[in-house]
Amino acid sequence: MDEVDKRFVEFLDRVVKEHEDAHKETRSDFVDKLLAIQSDKSALKLIIWDMFLAGTATSLSFLEWAMTELMRHPKAMKKLQEEIRSSSPQDFFVTEKEAEKMNYLQAVIKEALRLRPPAPLLVPRVLSEDVKLKGYNIPAGTQVIINAWAIQRDTTTWGIDAEEFRPERHLDSNLDFQGQDFKFIPFGSGKRICPGIGFTSALIGVTLANVVKRFNWRMDVEPQRVQHDLTEATGLVIFRKFPLIAIPSSA
Ligand code: HEM
Repeated sequence: MDEVDKRFVEFLDRVVKEHEDAHKETRSDFVDKLLAIQSDKSALKLIIWDMFLAGTATSLSFLEWAMTELMRHPKAMKKLQEEIRSSSPQDFFVTEKEAEKMNYLQAVIKEALRLRPPAPLLVPRVLSEDVKLKGYNIPAGTQVIINAWAIQRDTTTWGIDAEEFRPERHLDSNLDFQGQDFKFIPFGSGKRICPGIGFTSALIGVTLANVVKRFNWRMDVEPQRVQHDLTEATGLVIFRKFPLIAIPSSA
């Protein structure tokens, strides 16, 4: 851990230094913006660290699972490609603004986050006071782990097809992932809710839209292996045990 820590600190120092040395006129990215408003370098490095740790693996896990589900459901993939290709000019990248307005894309994002939440057990909590819940006495100091994965597949709230990937279920629904409805909490809820929701919603929407718009995709495995391939690895953020191998061809 010490070694990793040292390498990370060196990396962050380098990022800040590179940005301080760069010509400000030629570009202005996220770190430049932070440097402009923040004079305390150590706080700035911690913000970059936080975003790096909490924001990269989660977004990548989302993309891998969303692409996995889309490739297992060719009709959903086709519908999504049609929506994106018809509403965004042919040779251009889809913009954040365009992606926000694509209803089916937003439904696909919700459905992937429902069925495959990148952080399925959220972040552990510790009770600050004694709680009585459904006849149980839970003393202060108890660690509580919330299984969002199970909650989001519960047939009593989601219906008998809860285990199926069906983006259509979100089309006529106001349900979102802001933590107000406890049956759908891929970003958690309450004081510790993911502060990156706004940032990541734009990021994953625009990334998925462009990946799907610009290529057609196929998997290089026989259909009977697909189920086995879906095994999950362990960790706070869950990836596939057998990574998705997807082969693009030009659209
Ligand atoms: C698809 C992408 C993402 C998912 C699914 C996700 C999910 C989550 C979840 C479930 C939590 C714990 C919330 C809780 O227990 O109530 C969390 C915390 C957090 N997330 Fe995200 N996140 C994503 C992207 C990001 C991004 C892009 C950033 C930063 C730019 C970010 C920053 C954080 C931070 C700093 C925390 C800790 C908050 C705290 O404990 O006070 N996340 N995230």
